[in-house]
Amino acid sequence: MAMNYSEKVIDHSLNPRNVGEIEDPSGCGTVGNAVCGDIMRVYLDIDENQVIQDAKFKTFGCGAAIATSSMATVLIKGKTVQEALEVTNKAVMEALDGLPKVKIHCSLLAEQAIHAALWDYADKNGIVIEGLERPVTDVSELEEEG
Ligand code: FES
Repeated sequence: MAMNYSEKVIDHSLNPRNVGEIEDPSGCGTVGNAVCGDIMRVYLDIDENQVIQDAKFKTFGCGAAIATSSMATVLIKGKTVQEALEVTNKAVMEALDGLPKVKIHCSLLAEQAIHAALWDYADKNGIVIEGLERPVTDVSELEEEG
């Protein structure tokens, strides 16, 4: 019984899209949440036009973290690195028809892992992605800031 979960959340947590690794990725980022202990890693394959050709993730986390990572990777594929910044945790939650309040923090893992992977890509290539902030490794810090 999943009283508070939308069908989309259940679908993406039971049948997550884009699970796995990319060998020799353009960018890779790992973040965690020290409070719940969940960890997420995102791999990106980005072409010479800065378009995300592929995105994969691995997570050691709860169902909501898996569902939001799954949806987030679906949403960023085919987008430019700049457009990918618009895939915020709110956008991901909307695409999943919402999350129960106590699970909102889980969606931050996906967003921040993508940011960390984009940061890695930008760093490796000596470019600046406008609006991208240096990622934190522990997303529970962000929650405290509100
Ligand atoms: Fe930690 Fe969901 S409980 S990410």
